Amino acid sequence: MARQIHARRVEGVDKNVWVEFTQLAADYKAVNLGQGFPDFSPPKFVQEAFCAAVMGGPQMHQYTRAFGHPHLVKSLATFFTRIVGHEINPLDDILVTVGAYQALFCAFQSLVDEGDEVIIVEPFFDCYQPMVRMAGGKPVYVPLRPRSEDKMVSSSADWVLSTEELASKINPRTKAIVINTPNNPLGKVSLLQELLSAAAHNAASQEKQVGHVP
Ligand SMILES: Cc1ncc(COP(=O)(O)O)c(C=O)c1O
Repeated sequence: MARQIHARRVEGVDKNVWVEFTQLAADYKAVNLGQGFPDFSPPKFVQEAFCAAVMGGPQMHQYTRAFGHPHLVKSLATFFTRIVGHEINPLDDILVTVGAYQALFCAFQSLVDEGDEVIIVEPFFDCYQPMVRMAGGKPVYVPLRPRSEDKMVSSSADWVLSTEELASKINPRTKAIVINTPNNPLGKVSLLQELLSAAAHNAASQEKQVGHVP
């Protein structure tokens, strides 16, 4: 039998919703709301800064520092230190990536070992599941549920994360919990209480795991 060319880790992750829906939208001439097609240009000052950088001479066309250009990481550290409320070191704590996909891919590759479980809150942005699988992990799902079964869901805030349900999925193999806030596709912004409770359950489980290490 001919040797399979592609690695086993990509089996089952060769399809995605973007390819399928883009094709369907083209076939049926539908308005494609699936991906952003901005109908405005970036502001003039951004365009001018971009042109100035491109024209800035050969030093602007070199490999940059792999973790992010020093000017950029310093600005990001200043900005995010204010937001998160603790000191961020520009050279140690920041990695600049090409979009969220690369950041997520690097995060899963560096955190997830073969057999680790990663909890993903449903509904979720489609790339989490294949990225966890490619890292050798097992996705475990926890759905957001309507706040009340009797009432209609009228806003994204009506979808809630049950902390009991989340806790029931955490075990010694759990390596990470993926929480996307604001959530794509629902737009739900996680409540501080939901985040604190997820962090507390995870911390409790980590402690247990450390306790289990022989
Ligand atoms: C929740 C979520 N994760 C990841 C991505 C991918 O982001 P990027 O295009 O920056 O790689 C998107 C893009 O819309 C997103 O909404």
